[in-house]
Amino acid sequence: MSGWDERQRAMLEAMGLRVWQNAAQAPESPEPAAAASTSVDRSEPPPARPAAPPPPPPVATPPAMPLRSAAASAAAGPVAQMGWDELRSAVAGCRACTLCEGRKNTVFGVGNEQAQWMIVGEAPGEQEDQQGEPFVGPAGKLLDNMLRAIQLTRAPGTPEQQVFIANTLKCRPPRNRNPEPEELAQCAPYLDRQIALVQPRIILAMGRFAVQSLLQSNEAIGRLRGRVHDYRGIPVIVTYHPAYLLRNLVDKARAWEDLCLALDTVEQRRPR
Ligand code: URA
Repeated sequence: MSGWDERQRAMLEAMGLRVWQNAAQAPESPEPAAAASTSVDRSEPPPARPAAPPPPPPVATPPAMPLRSAAASAAAGPVAQMGWDELRSAVAGCRACTLCEGRKNTVFGVGNEQAQWMIVGEAPGEQEDQQGEPFVGPAGKLLDNMLRAIQLTRAPGTPEQQVFIANTLKCRPPRNRNPEPEELAQCAPYLDRQIALVQPRIILAMGRFAVQSLLQSNEAIGRLRGRVHDYRGIPVIVTYHPAYLLRNLVDKARAWEDLCLALDTVEQRRPR
């Protein structure tokens, strides 16, 4: 027996972590390094879900980081009052920073407007800019697999099943460079308003720019993950960006732990 139950096996396989089906498939005398991993394609850390969920982790307080400029804060006023249609139009016509000059499309976000789960990424890449939808490139395929592993989807469904996916930036930075602080500040009111309208039960913050926008923190993902953070009363789980996971396979196991923490957090806070 591999020790994984059906659900765990399905999750690991959907995330691209290879699972030994049974003892007969395991090497008889594993080689010291790579083959020493008994169950999945990784050397650290074990992605086993704890048998009993730990007590609710403390809500972490992010260190202060001056992210919002005065101009961006002034712009936040009207945006904070907008409904979905007005917000979509405002994003589509936004010229608040120079990113508008190079875009083909703005990338508003996609999913259920009452979703229980909200996924926050970084910024559109080339394919997202072309299609006007977030996470449609290779990182998006991994994200879809991660979501499928926990029975979630971007495809039409109920608010329990269908997530809402948004980025911190709605326009593609040239040559996929990192977002600038001023761009993040200008775009933040749109993400804030999307979250206020969706009112998700949980937010998955993927990568450092999502973390900067939501938690005003410059800390590394590795130091922030594993705890429940807070964005305006909504629990936030910090995890690695899918594009990073495509290059760093061992951290997929950590991302799996983050998904488990998110699932446990939603479950523990479910109204009874
Ligand atoms: N990476 C992101 O963070 N968002 C996208 O939409 C695509 C890639």
